Amino acid sequence: MAKQKAARTDDIPVARLTPEQAAAELARLAAKIAEADRAYYADDRPAMSDAAYDALRRRNLLIEKRFPKLKRDDSPSDKIGAAPSAKFDKVRHALPMLSLDNAFDEADVADFVKRVRRFLKLDEDASLAFTAEPKIDGLSLNLRYEKGVLALAATRGDGAVGENVTANALAIDDIPKALKGAPDLLEVRGEVYMSHEDFLALNARLEAEGEEAFANPRNAAAGSLRQLDAAITAARPLRFFAYAWGALSEPLAETQFDAVRRLKKLRFEINPLMRRFETVDELIAHYRMIGEARAGLGYDIDGVVYKVDRLDYQERLGFVSRHPRWATAHKFPAEKATTVLEAIEIQVGRTGKLTPVARLKPVTVGGVVVSNATLHNEDEIKRKDARVGDTVVIQRAGDVIPQVVEVLKDKRLKGAKPFVFPDRCPVCDSHAVNEVNPQTGKADVDRRCTGGLICAAQAVERLKHFVSRNAFDIEGLGEKQIAAFFEQGIIREPADIFTLRRRQDSGEIDLYAYKKKPDGSIHLDKDGNKTPTNAKSMGNLFDAIDARREISAARFINALGVRHVGETNARLFAEHYGGFDGFYAAAVKARDRESEAYQDMLSIDGVGALVAQGAIDFFDEVHNREAVDRLLREVRPQAAQTAAADSPVAGRTVVFTGTLETMTRDEAKARAQSLGARVSGSISAKTDYLVAGAKAGSKLKKAQDLGVTVLTEEEWTALAGG
Ligand code: IVH
Repeated sequence: MAKQKAARTDDIPVARLTPEQAAAELARLAAKIAEADRAYYADDRPAMSDAAYDALRRRNLLIEKRFPKLKRDDSPSDKIGAAPSAKFDKVRHALPMLSLDNAFDEADVADFVKRVRRFLKLDEDASLAFTAEPKIDGLSLNLRYEKGVLALAATRGDGAVGENVTANALAIDDIPKALKGAPDLLEVRGEVYMSHEDFLALNARLEAEGEEAFANPRNAAAGSLRQLDAAITAARPLRFFAYAWGALSEPLAETQFDAVRRLKKLRFEINPLMRRFETVDELIAHYRMIGEARAGLGYDIDGVVYKVDRLDYQERLGFVSRHPRWATAHKFPAEKATTVLEAIEIQVGRTGKLTPVARLKPVTVGGVVVSNATLHNEDEIKRKDARVGDTVVIQRAGDVIPQVVEVLKDKRLKGAKPFVFPDRCPVCDSHAVNEVNPQTGKADVDRRCTGGLICAAQAVERLKHFVSRNAFDIEGLGEKQIAAFFEQGIIREPADIFTLRRRQDSGEIDLYAYKKKPDGSIHLDKDGNKTPTNAKSMGNLFDAIDARREISAARFINALGVRHVGETNARLFAEHYGGFDGFYAAAVKARDRESEAYQDMLSIDGVGALVAQGAIDFFDEVHNREAVDRLLREVRPQAAQTAAADSPVAGRTVVFTGTLETMTRDEAKARAQSLGARVSGSISAKTDYLVAGAKAGSKLKKAQDLGVTVLTEEEWTALAGG
């Protein structure tokens, strides 16, 4: 009998499916989505990108809309997605675990070195050494040793709070369990990774056992470290390179280089390619050398890390939001591949921005299967003249979304039509326009949906942002749950999250109708029953929500999703206004551009007219104010904490002017902020101190006129405590 392959249904547009094909397609999608859920939630091993997953669910929903009678009992649209399991205990890091800023070319590296010199006020000829070492592509781990004994191992998590994986770290050979001659308190930081050889052997074994293989060594390392059963971790060959440290009871050394050598003496593995150099040229030469050695190292690296060698300099340089000023990662160029552009879809973001997404014939790029890439915006599609059916070059660098970098026109098929960018929102059908930037008078390159609140896509993206990691970060309430609750009409705005428990108790909604399935997802069950497991997971969710009723003002402001106000600006506002209420009141008053409130907002260092406009516009909308007011009935944003409330300058507003002698303006500013002072760019009645260096001009005069205390640099240093 001739073998007949079932006809493919996955590439037939929904509008053209016959009922038979639709039924087959719904069956295929249900199976595929369930498999992806299992991989994501139960195995910690995403089988596909979020975008690919969303596309499957969208297609499923569209088919169900066209053929309601064909909807399956196990339809994925009835699932709320799985609550991320609270597998490991959470631990707060004694010192945050930060990430690195990136340099992509030699000019970026030269800039980095220049910035460091400028900040430290070092002349071109003053000596300044850097270490250079491979950037290991694994996952970072903090190992806390107390009196020489490994007491706690924690993953990076969001940088502030990680997961306790001590039992698993104990199973890693490279990690010493006890140290001789170490400081009483020593936190060693480094990278857990898996060698190529071990990765291939592990995958071969998994496949032989009928299990799914890992996409790359990094996923394998992460999946192995994050095993609840430490015996599984032990059976998986993980390695560890030490390259940094956290809390310490005494310094390890005076330089980065010597500190890492000290770690080696304590029996940690350190990377053999770490060197110390004085010039940009030497750094670049080492980068090239490592680049050439890369393929033969036997483990994945994705760049070279440069760090200022002197630790007293590192201390002075400090941090900017999440990155140390004293280090940067010089990345290797992205990996590329050629594939076919199968479709261009339009996604609508939180601010209404329409982003064209390239759906690609799946292709492996640097060990990862890619089936979606960004096309950025309308202009980009025009510039590249990307057409459906074209052969395209895509590139992927690290964790960033793959991009279409080139269209191979000579491979274009006859009849390929130019892409027509929609001028209406594909979700709510409102007009999509290119806004004009008030500062430049130029039309924006992005088209935005004008639907605002009526646009479901914007509303749901805003809610996703609200619960995201650097905003409310509610355990068990992630993007998928938000999307599902939104679709069910249970959560429509932020305040709704905080009334869930009350609405459940009063019978207004019945969350027991969402029964938990074995794979961890929640299934809509019309005869929902109250089992102990259901009650427990619901109780956990409510508790996790209640735990966020008190939240830092900075997170609260960030969560609102005010245009141009992200994490950094949210923190600036929270600090400047001492909390949320002050910010709210000021943004309302600042609507009048002549007002002192407006001038005061612009005086915040780092806040320009565009950011101010974002804040003003947000609070100018009555529905935003109402939504915020409803939220404020549920949630208490905390007064902004000053970094060191015991410093006499904490909470004070200070302005620096003129040429400072012992430090640069940037350093002075950074130090003042770390002591909890607010640094402003202009003098007003609210200024507490003006620190005047040499050649101070109009600011000095204005301060004197307003009776603001004027300090010399020396007086300031004495007041701020050295
Ligand atoms: S130093 C303050 N050195 O890269 C930052 N990080 O993007 C201290 N990483 O989270 C990190 N190799 O997981 C440093 N040789 C190296 C590294 C390295 C890999 C990772 C680390 C960090 C991420 C930052």
